[in-house]
This record gives sequence, C-alpha cells and structure tokens, in this order.
Amino acid sequence: MLVIETIEDFRRWRQEEKGTLALVPTMGALHEGHLSLVRIAKTIADKVVLYIFVNPMQFGPKEDFGTYPRTPEKDIEACQKEGVDAIFMPKMSEIYPEGKDNSTKVVPPAFLADILEGHFRPGFFTGVATVLVKFFSIVQPDAVIFGEKDYQQLLIVRRFIQDLNLPITVYGAPTVREPDGLAVASRNAYLSKEQRAIAPRIHQLLQEAAAKLQKAQSKNQDEMEQLLKPIRQKFKEANFELQYLESRDADNLQPVSPQTKKIILLVAAKLDSIRLIDNLFVS
Ligand code: PAJ
Repeated sequence: MLVIETIEDFRRWRQEEKGTLALVPTMGALHEGHLSLVRIAKTIADKVVLYIFVNPMQFGPKEDFGTYPRTPEKDIEACQKEGVDAIFMPKMSEIYPEGKDNSTKVVPPAFLADILEGHFRPGFFTGVATVLVKFFSIVQPDAVIFGEKDYQQLLIVRRFIQDLNLPITVYGAPTVREPDGLAVASRNAYLSKEQRAIAPRIHQLLQEAAAKLQKAQSKNQDEMEQLLKPIRQKFKEANFELQYLESRDADNLQPVSPQTKKIILLVAAKLDSIRLIDNLFVS
C-alpha cells in the first residue's frame, strides 16, 4: 500500500493507473464505519484510494477542529489490512495554500444545505462540498462512497456532483452500529462511561418513533409532528440536549407530503458538548 503525501506525487501515481478507481473520503480516526466503505469500494473498482484530511473549513469557530481525534499510524495499519491501494494524506498548506478563508468555495443549494445540520452548523456543507471538489479534482475517481450515517451530506454530494456534471458515481453505504445500536462515530471516543451508557438511547428512540410513524401510515407533516412530540420529550428525559428530531422526505429532506415515497427520521442530540447525529428510515 502506498502512502502519498503530496498532490504532485498523487497525480503522478494516478496517471500510471489504467483501471477504475473508487475513493473513500475521510477525516481519519478510522473505525468500522469507514472500513465498511472501503469494503464496498473494493467491490466496485479496480483500485481503492482513501483520503485522510481533517478539513478546517467545515468546523465552526467553537467546534472541535483542534481536538478532533488524529490517529495516522493506526489508520495506515487498518487500511493496509483492508487492502486499500493508496492512502492520500496531504498537508493543510497544499489543500488551502492561501488559508481556508481565501479559498474559492462551493456553495450547495440552501434548500438542502441550510436546514437540519446546516441550520445548527452554518457553513458546514460549504466546507464539505469545497474540500470534496478539491479532492475529486486531484484524485479523479470513477466512484465515491459515503455513509448514510451522514445522510444529509450524502444527498448534498449527490446533488453537487449532478449540478457540476462531475463524471463520478456515488454509492451510499448503510450505517455501521455498535452491538447496542449506537452508530459508530469518531466522536464516540469523547464519551465518558456514563455518556456512553446513555448514547444508545438515540437509536432506541429513533426505532420507537419509526414504529409509531409506520403504524400511523401518515403522510401529513402536522400529524407526524404530533407523534414525534412525546419522543422529543423522552430525549430530554434521557439527558440529551435535543437539537432536532425531524421526519422528512428521504429523497430531498423536505417536509413529508402525499408524494413522499420514503420517510426518514433525522436526529442531532448533545450530551454536554458532545454532538451525536443519527437517522433511520421509516420502512
Ligand atoms: P468522516 O466523519 O471521517 O466520515 C467519512 C465517511 O465515513 C462519511 O461518508 C461518513 O458518512 C462515513 N461514516 C462515518 N460513520 C459511519 C458509520 N457508522 N457507518 C457507515 N459510514 C460511516 O464525513 C466526513 O468525514 C467529512 O465530512 C468528509 C466527507 C470526509 C469531508 O471532509
């Protein structure tokens, strides 16, 4: 496995590769969720590249950019084991040579990017879209794989790839969970023992909400609101600071309507300063 650290070296390697290439974008601190994307990538392309870059543009001024977990040696070992062909881990100065504030930006449409996560993290999806377009233009992948864990991110990636006519196929991958249902996430490492014991309630309450909505068979947003109210209360009782729990049309994250084919529940909840997100389809 190659570990490539500069854009120039990456481009040189890429030019020599003849087959198809799948890219797994990450911010490192790799876990089973990331590795599940690698396994999918291996089934769809001849070569698999994983990039690691903790992207400052997607962190708010009060967020955890400085303390975000960084475990490069462990990450390299895990990728080697999974049969990744190349890890690309460029320096900050190569991705943002003039600093992040002086970079050209890619701004996804507000109807998708300024709601839910974007409402609580202003500018987040501009940071995500900008860094991804930079990496797509360096790596030139045929396919990219993203987790459904970050469902809004997945839809926004699909959208800007379509809008910018990028010749890249997007694959979504199911959320990998701990045995108790907690979605695997790099930020889980921040949880204390007590918080770790509470965190699986997120998935349990999502299941409870999904069962309720399923039973009601409603496609009326107001009716669903009424059904979700007691679940929101339960989040609070479990000591979460609930930022949002919403039912949405899974195709576009807009309010549910009679035209909705699939409904998704999305949640962001904080335990002290640790912010956790999850989602669940209402089948
Ligand atoms: P990061 O949080 O490192 O996640 C990288 C990829 O792993 C994303 O596609 C995410 O959805 C996926 N992932 C995380 N946890 C998962 C889980 N439990 N099951 C399945 N997939 C999971 O998302 C980012 O980085 C960044 O925003 C990035 C796209 C790299 C742009 O900076």
